[in-house]
Amino acid sequence: MKKKHLELLLFIFVLFFGCKGPKSEEVKVATNSKIIPTVDALPTHVVHPKDNPSSKEKETLGKLLFYDPILSGNKDISCATCHHPEMGYAEFLDISIGTNAKGLGSKRAFNSPNDIPFVKRNAQTVLNTAFNGLQSHLTYVPENATMFWDDRAKSLEKQAIEPIKALEEMRGRNFTEDEILHIVVERLRSIPKYRDLFMDAFNQSEPVTIENLGKAIAAFERTLVANNSRFDQYMRGDSRAISISEKDGFELFKKVGCINCHNGPMFSDYKMHVLGVPENNKLPNVDFGMADIGKKDSFAFRTPTLRNLRFTAPYMHNGSFMTLRRVLEFYEDISNNVQRNPNIEPERLDPLVRELKLSVKEMALIISFLNTLNDEEFDKSIPENVPSGLPAGGLIN
Ligand code: HEC
Ligand code: HEC
Repeated sequence: MKKKHLELLLFIFVLFFGCKGPKSEEVKVATNSKIIPTVDALPTHVVHPKDNPSSKEKETLGKLLFYDPILSGNKDISCATCHHPEMGYAEFLDISIGTNAKGLGSKRAFNSPNDIPFVKRNAQTVLNTAFNGLQSHLTYVPENATMFWDDRAKSLEKQAIEPIKALEEMRGRNFTEDEILHIVVERLRSIPKYRDLFMDAFNQSEPVTIENLGKAIAAFERTLVANNSRFDQYMRGDSRAISISEKDGFELFKKVGCINCHNGPMFSDYKMHVLGVPENNKLPNVDFGMADIGKKDSFAFRTPTLRNLRFTAPYMHNGSFMTLRRVLEFYEDISNNVQRNPNIEPERLDPLVRELKLSVKEMALIISFLNTLNDEEFDKSIPENVPSGLPAGGLIN
């Protein structure tokens, strides 16, 4: 009897566990191939890179550098010129106007004479870039955070150096790309106030370096968060934070397929997609987007965040659309096979965007949902003076 029992047990054991392996494998494959995208509230805290822990001193220094035109070749433009708090740390211009210009936002114009080209892209907001790359199901590594419309820089620390080197943004024609960073460091070293501030922030024998400049600016940028929108409040449990029609808009956002790319807490998958946005005819050349290995004309751009859109018009990588309505009409055209960029064959468009099913009736509801993603409560303070004595923010008045 006992032996029979054992045999039976063994039989059950094999039946059970013997089959469990392949079965759970099957399940795993099935879920892997179709991860259901979700959206989420933003975290309440920011993660800092291991080699750049933040401090009040670093943030103070970073903020002054962000507003100081001393970082530009001609001392006429600062980071804040194109990323101003009044413009949601983005810019009210389709494509940016860099050095050799005056004014802020839509009032900004080149001086005359001018030999500086337009920046070829729309200025992204610096708000919430502390969370760039954040995804619901992955660990967040700020050292690898994706930057720019084409993902060409990783981390805020590395990104901060790029505009200083770019001819049409901050460098201008008086210095070469190889010279400019040395020039900027020399200028900063010659200002006693900056020497002190760098010393307070880094406590090294020679703290004024390009690397530390990037670190200080990044530490400041990580203070620019807006993570308490009505949508965040709703996701954290306040069911009345958004209205019934906004909830309907949320359901449509998921149903029509926007969520397939705009997902996670930032409403971006941080991947590249070909949408075929029309070219901006102020620009002499077609923008090929991310330069793929062996494929220069990828036309792919990174999915942007959908947070704080109220402050960041115009939209898309080249500011082609002035309003959210125009953006949604563009998506409707794609779903109806209406081609808006003749350089891109329709079959190259991302399948996830061709699959969208969108009607005029749904647009207003989706837009009302997008409005729940705005958070006005971000830091809008501007330093009155910067250590160089140049106008804070650059020539913006
Ligand atoms: C002339 C206008 C201009 C100036 C000056 C400028 N930027 Fe930008 N910024 C842009 C544009 C345009 C982009 C998008 C460029 C692209 O994707 O190719 C951008 C992108 C960024 C991004 C990436 C955001 C994201 O979500 O990927 C950050 C961060 C940023 N800028 C910070 C800075 C800092 C720091 C400085 C100063 C050192 C600065 N910018 C100076 C126009 C400007
Ligand atoms: C295939 C992925 C994908 C799908 C699906 C998708 N988007 Fe986008 N979205 C993008 C990309 C990529 C861009 C930037 C394209 C560019 O600039 O060339 C973008 C840009 C936007 C912008 C402009 C944001 C800004 O800051 O400029 C808005 C608004 C937007 N999408 C909303 C939506 C809505 C609403 C839906 C659903 C109807 C949707 N998207 C569906 C990938 C997608």
